[in-house]
Amino acid sequence: MSDRIGFLLNGAPVSLPAGTSPTMTLLDWLRGPAGLTGTKEGCAEGDCGACTVVLEAADGGRAPINACLAMLGQMHGRAIRTVEGLRGEEGGPHPVQRRLAEADATQCGFCTPGIVMAAWAQAREGGDPHEALAGNLCRCTGYRPILDALAAMQDDRAPPPVLPVAGTACFTAEGQVFHHPASLAELLRLRAAHPAALLLAGGTDLGLLASEHRQRPAAVIALDAVPELQACTGDAAGLSIGAALPYGRLLPWLDGGLAPFAALLRRLGSRQIRSLGTLGGNLGTASPIGDALPVLLALGAGLRIASARGERACAVEEFLTGYRRTTLAPDEVILAIRLPRPAAGEILVCEKLSKRHDQDIAAVSGAFLLRVEAGRVAAARLAFGGMGPMAARARAAEAALTGAPLARPAFEAAAAALAQDVAPLSDWRGSAAYRLAAAQGLLRRLHWRIARPDLPLEVHAL
Ligand SMILES: Cc1cc2nc3c(=O)[nH]c(=O)nc-3n(C[C@H](O)[C@H](O)[C@H](O)COP(=O)(O)OP(=O)(O)OC[C@H]3O[C@@H](n4cnc5c(N)ncnc54)[C@H](O)[C@@H]3O)c2cc1C
Ligand code: FES
Ligand code: FES
Repeated sequence: MSDRIGFLLNGAPVSLPAGTSPTMTLLDWLRGPAGLTGTKEGCAEGDCGACTVVLEAADGGRAPINACLAMLGQMHGRAIRTVEGLRGEEGGPHPVQRRLAEADATQCGFCTPGIVMAAWAQAREGGDPHEALAGNLCRCTGYRPILDALAAMQDDRAPPPVLPVAGTACFTAEGQVFHHPASLAELLRLRAAHPAALLLAGGTDLGLLASEHRQRPAAVIALDAVPELQACTGDAAGLSIGAALPYGRLLPWLDGGLAPFAALLRRLGSRQIRSLGTLGGNLGTASPIGDALPVLLALGAGLRIASARGERACAVEEFLTGYRRTTLAPDEVILAIRLPRPAAGEILVCEKLSKRHDQDIAAVSGAFLLRVEAGRVAAARLAFGGMGPMAARARAAEAALTGAPLARPAFEAAAAALAQDVAPLSDWRGSAAYRLAAAQGLLRRLHWRIARPDLPLEVHAL
């Protein structure tokens, strides 16, 4: 069993000295011991993208991540590329760097290494350039020339790396132990033996402990090397999603009736956050404004929860019990999420209201599954986030809709009934009165959303 953190850095193998803190952030290590200061620190909380580096996959895929949130132990067995690892032919600037320079897409240059890395990932992965840039803030250039540069990039397919083999590992440092199991049996054994250890999936919530709060967690069990937690399988009825599968790799599975969920997830954080963040982490955090939770409730998703004692099934609705509280026992791990597809005649609508379109937490979110038969609402599952201590279904509003003709009065009645279902708070994202009015507005417009499910998700300024 390996006791050294090992990864590929810019194509070269690195083995960290024994005793290196496994919860040191990748950014601190790059800028400190590694002496690679091209990667910058702006916010240290995953928001600005100045620290963007890229994880290279064995198939050539490129996933941009925030080095400020990633812990070193989590990088074991990965291939990381930083801005120092980009070179053009004959050692000059890489074409991505040249395009940015030619488009005048840099001024003070502080954000530029992060933007170069986001652009390098985009040159392989494609997709909407606005979406690719959502995790990179630039305070002086303005985004027009940066977007122009991204639009001019050509498909870039460098040879994929040969990833190091990473079996079960355990890294220790003064007062710290970081377990990196590579099998489910080993994970469950470790969980039973260390119920107080932090379970680390993508670390986009937990990484803030090491980054923003400068803590040194005493015990961590990482989930990223357990194959069962990374798998996704699907059939006509639905998907079985490994709890530690990053959102970025889940998105291609969300087709057909689940496409509205994909559109919502494309607004969860940024590509950097989605490269590591997971559904298991959204459930484990159990925040009332976790984007995925209303969708899981509306679809009637279920969980497979495992421990050394065995496995149990649990509906997401029963799993969430209060503000950041769940039924997960100290020795348990969420293994997989069973996500039903909308059946024939069912329509899924997802909504997220936030101050900014990208890289923002919702003030109010909603997910609605309606079955329409012969011009009537035959069944309705309506779930909201941000409207109480936890994401929850709105039963009174559901009752007002169910059985009613598919016409405006039914949605007005559901909006009126919603006041019985929710108890929103006032905070800086929105007042309780705003939240109620906004959630009622989402139910009113559900009527025409059903007619046009293809319309893009909208954002309302608060
Ligand atoms: C800049 C930024 C932007 C963000 N934007 C959004 C956003 O728009 N919407 C949103 O919903 N969230 C957002 N988040 C929060 C975060 O990205 C999500 O909650 C994400 O789903 C967390 O997943 P993770 O794998 O990174 O969790 P981790 O940080 O690894 O873990 C989170 C919690 O879940 C537990 N956990 C993880 N996996 C399991 C498992 N398999 N079994 C049991 N417990 C488990 C952990 O122990 C921990 O308590 C943002 C975070 C940042 C830093
Ligand atoms: S330093 Fe701002 S996202 Fe990492
Ligand atoms: S060029 Fe100055 S922050 Fe972007």
